Amino acid sequence: MSPDARWLAQLEDRARAVLPAPVLDYVLQAAGDGITASEATQAWRRVRLLPHVMRDVTELDLGVSLLGQHVDVPWGVAPTTWQAGVHPDGELATARATAAVGGLMVVSSNAGTPFDRIAGTGVDWWLQVYLPADRTLAEPMLARAVAAGATAVVLTVDTPVVPVPSQPADTPDLPEPGALRINFDDGYDAEPGADKATDLGPHDLDWLAERTGLPVVVKGVLRPDDARRCVDAGARAVWVSNHGGRQLDRTVATVDALPAVVAEVGGEAEVYVDGGVRSGLDVVAATAAGAAAVFLGRSPLLALVDGEAGVARLHRALTEQVSEALRLTGCRTIADTRGILAAEPAHRV
Ligand SMILES: Cc1cc2nc3c(=O)[nH]c(=O)nc-3n(C[C@H](O)[C@H](O)[C@H](O)COP(=O)(O)O)c2cc1C
Repeated sequence: MSPDARWLAQLEDRARAVLPAPVLDYVLQAAGDGITASEATQAWRRVRLLPHVMRDVTELDLGVSLLGQHVDVPWGVAPTTWQAGVHPDGELATARATAAVGGLMVVSSNAGTPFDRIAGTGVDWWLQVYLPADRTLAEPMLARAVAAGATAVVLTVDTPVVPVPSQPADTPDLPEPGALRINFDDGYDAEPGADKATDLGPHDLDWLAERTGLPVVVKGVLRPDDARRCVDAGARAVWVSNHGGRQLDRTVATVDALPAVVAEVGGEAEVYVDGGVRSGLDVVAATAAGAAAVFLGRSPLLALVDGEAGVARLHRALTEQVSEALRLTGCRTIADTRGILAAEPAHRV
């Protein structure tokens, strides 16, 4: 194992030793009994590959095209809040390290750093939004993201309510108010109607596209029929996610939900996946199962313990592992991985 791969495998142990308990609890938090969160990492290990041999794998290309935009690696940083709780440089460190690898960062609408400062790092970035009950309250934040150069908007739809966590701590300390939602107008949280919307529907995709002029991605889809409704309503991509097991416990693992969603809408829209992705081989398993891109939530946060250098090391370790996996499966590109899934019924695409 290379030093970077060993470091990656020990990411959580290292963060446990370094992070203050409330921050660690927040990052690792899982809904309910933590069943979905703990299954997520194991689920990728069930994927079986059928590698090619005798192919020229001297030169590799890890790049992918997402919504018409070239990114140099097939994994991106999923939206996560409270990055400044992990390291004082917060989103800026994540953005700088991700820009350096030519990767994509999805920035939470709850971020603690102004969008224009994140954009100033040169990172390619998309905005993730939670829409409030009163949609108009989100408009200033959306305008700031567009002005700062977000190139897509990701609507998270699996969060009509935030469940009370039971694992690992019952009441993790909340971030300081100033560390969240800095891109909203002052006083946003006290406004009537600032609660998360419980009536999201296909019409919201139109509304977001109109307000931002950006392609809309729907994050938090697990069922092919919902994916179909999203694509019919104009979604340019569907993001298969169970929120890292932080929302509804006992949801299906995303690796098991992915094939049916790809089969339903993969011909018309891009399909992304996240949840429990911890290694380069997990990334390749996901692209082999039909994902156009793979996102990581907790891993970049745990790497952020070491600031920009930590997130850079995460990207380096993943680059090394994905490159190795491509060569060992006889694939030169990410598109080549589509054919390497063993035809087990649960993973056939
Ligand atoms: C600390 C933390 C904060 C998160 N905040 C958001 C958020 O603001 N918006 C969102 O759509 N998802 C959020 N997520 C979910 C991630 O985007 C992603 O779906 C999930 O973490 C993927 O699973 P993984 O952590 O196993 O990689 C958060 C996840 C974590 C761990």
